[in-house]
Amino acid sequence: MSQKLLVTCGLPYANGRAHIGHLRTYIPADIYVRVLKKMGLDPLFVCGSDTHGTPIVITAEKEGITPKELVERYHTHFRDVFEKLNIKFDYYGTTDDPINHKRTQEIVKRNLDAGYIFSKDIELAYCPTCNRFLPDRYVEGICPKCGAHARGDECDQGCGAHLEPGEILEPVCKICGTPAEYRVQKHSFFKLSAFEDFLLDYLEKLEGTQHAINYAKEWVRGGLNDWCITRNLEWGVKFPGSDLVVYVWVDAPIGYISFTEEWCSQVGDNWEDYWLDSGRIVHFIGLDIVYHHCIFWPAILKGAGYNLPSAIVASGMVKIEDKTFSKSRGYVVWVDEDYLNEGFDPDVLRYYMSSYTSHIKELNFSWDVFAKKNNTELVASLGNFVHRTLTFSSKHFGEVPEGDIEEEVMEKISETIERIKEANASYEFKQVVDAVMGLADFGNAYFQKAQPWKLIKTDRDRCGGVLKNCIQLCKAIAILFEPIMPGRMEVLAEMLGIEDVHTALFEEALNEVTSGKKLSNPKPLFEKIEQSKIDAMDEKLAHRLREAQLVELKGETDASVKNSFTEIDRVLEGDKITEVSEGLISYDEFSRLEMRVGKVLSADRVPRSSKLLKLNVDIGDEQRVIVAGVGEQYSPEELEGTSVVVLTNLEPATILG
Ligand code: MSP
Ligand code: ZN
Repeated sequence: MSQKLLVTCGLPYANGRAHIGHLRTYIPADIYVRVLKKMGLDPLFVCGSDTHGTPIVITAEKEGITPKELVERYHTHFRDVFEKLNIKFDYYGTTDDPINHKRTQEIVKRNLDAGYIFSKDIELAYCPTCNRFLPDRYVEGICPKCGAHARGDECDQGCGAHLEPGEILEPVCKICGTPAEYRVQKHSFFKLSAFEDFLLDYLEKLEGTQHAINYAKEWVRGGLNDWCITRNLEWGVKFPGSDLVVYVWVDAPIGYISFTEEWCSQVGDNWEDYWLDSGRIVHFIGLDIVYHHCIFWPAILKGAGYNLPSAIVASGMVKIEDKTFSKSRGYVVWVDEDYLNEGFDPDVLRYYMSSYTSHIKELNFSWDVFAKKNNTELVASLGNFVHRTLTFSSKHFGEVPEGDIEEEVMEKISETIERIKEANASYEFKQVVDAVMGLADFGNAYFQKAQPWKLIKTDRDRCGGVLKNCIQLCKAIAILFEPIMPGRMEVLAEMLGIEDVHTALFEEALNEVTSGKKLSNPKPLFEKIEQSKIDAMDEKLAHRLREAQLVELKGETDASVKNSFTEIDRVLEGDKITEVSEGLISYDEFSRLEMRVGKVLSADRVPRSSKLLKLNVDIGDEQRVIVAGVGEQYSPEELEGTSVVVLTNLEPATILG
């Protein structure tokens, strides 16, 4: 039996709509799987809704519906969006399925039996008015690490630290506003600290995007804390033999296993081949959840004796118009409202998301760039080659003309196939796109040089030969670009009389097109996007930003409930108001700032943060320890020895210890 191959995507939280930040996980994964299929492999591709956790319960309470109703709504929404974007999972489940409850309990029990889960009395926030314990976001208070106002599970407005239950200071009940008291309760902890050696060894061998894996290594080297894995909630997977439920980050990744089980039971396959034997498991995620996938998840699997992921592929984060993605601040592009409902082609977004930059880098979405990429790359280059080839051929021949395919053309096609395979294997989807676009450029140059519009008057046979070569290139483009733009390439394939471009293997692109085959009436593949449309989209975004700012200024909406929608705001954000208003400061304010040029003596990453770097800076008469949120733009090595401007009279703060 050949090795089973499983590809998964980070599960979307079923408590809000799909935005284009999400797509950075799903589109490249779908492309990856389609390329593997074109190579003749048979990957299983699963995903599903992440349905548990406090944000979902809080959102449901706010809306006066049950958590079940809420997650059903968004489960349906995500399924629908994925279908429209041609993101084709073999199975799309939910973590609330009984099979996932069962699998989670089984894995927890195995870890209990192996001694990796222990219980401990801890002090937890308790509301005497509501008569209940207050898990995660049910409580707000002061961050013990930096002193900022924080919510129960995370210092969202200060240092960004993850807070364990019981850590928050001066807790206040989020529901009724009563100061909470601390009460003792027994909770279960996962002994993550026992896995440090195992993880260092495992991460050394782990495949995928190495920059993300390097973060994980540094976190492990910095020491791991045990994780509290039980919560006081009704909604979730019950912890075996207890009234508590397991923390959502336990049952969510286990969804990867239970979805495999569900699919296998439907088609009569063995899920064990993937998860207990020698299966190859590849997880696609975003940079924001590397800690959970590279540290927590492999440890849980190891503790239970399951297979470990072979590769973790983590994308860079998506920004909107060069600003950090933030739903509460309005920097968001909704997939339905702003894209599909505006009549844009799903494939153009797939193209943008895969061709903008390397998979591991930040991706900026801007409507201007979107229009430019569409108009110059898709319309004027790729679309132009296909269209001129097909209109000219059908006008003068009506069918694929007679002639031989030149060696140079076949070589170019087979070289492109090799480049695609290599790029895909190293998770470089931009290079996949670049390879096929290179084929279109080659085609345009070939057409231009051969001048079929002249040949048709002087040498009809030679003209037919040239066109046949161009048609061969169009066929190759249809097959090779199918993973990126499955919808548009289906249309191109129909014009060429290719039966099923989705199941066609790469090798098919090297089979000579059949002379005499009728060519159907060519239609343009891509449409130009007008400036007026882009202006309207920009205005829509600007309007959203203004609204968000108003809400913020008036404080009308409850900030932390908004934040419960915005998991992504886990990333650190600067001063909210100034960034939105880009307001001016007075000379008086300016004159209070003391700035000096300093030299960076050393720089290190702050454990468990991808953004923060700890710098030791020489500012002349003293050395300062400065924590800077530049970890995604600079590596520590790059900063060492450089000169930076230091604001020397900023008040001191303790950040992440
Ligand atoms: N539910 C968790 C994942 C659990 S996996 C066992 C989660 N959900 S999410 O809805 O916030 O994100 C779903 C996927 O989209 C994740 O892979 C996440 O990394 C990705 N992204 C969400 N917003 C993103 C950006 N703004 N930019 C890039 N990717 C981001 O996390
Ligand atoms: Zn209360």
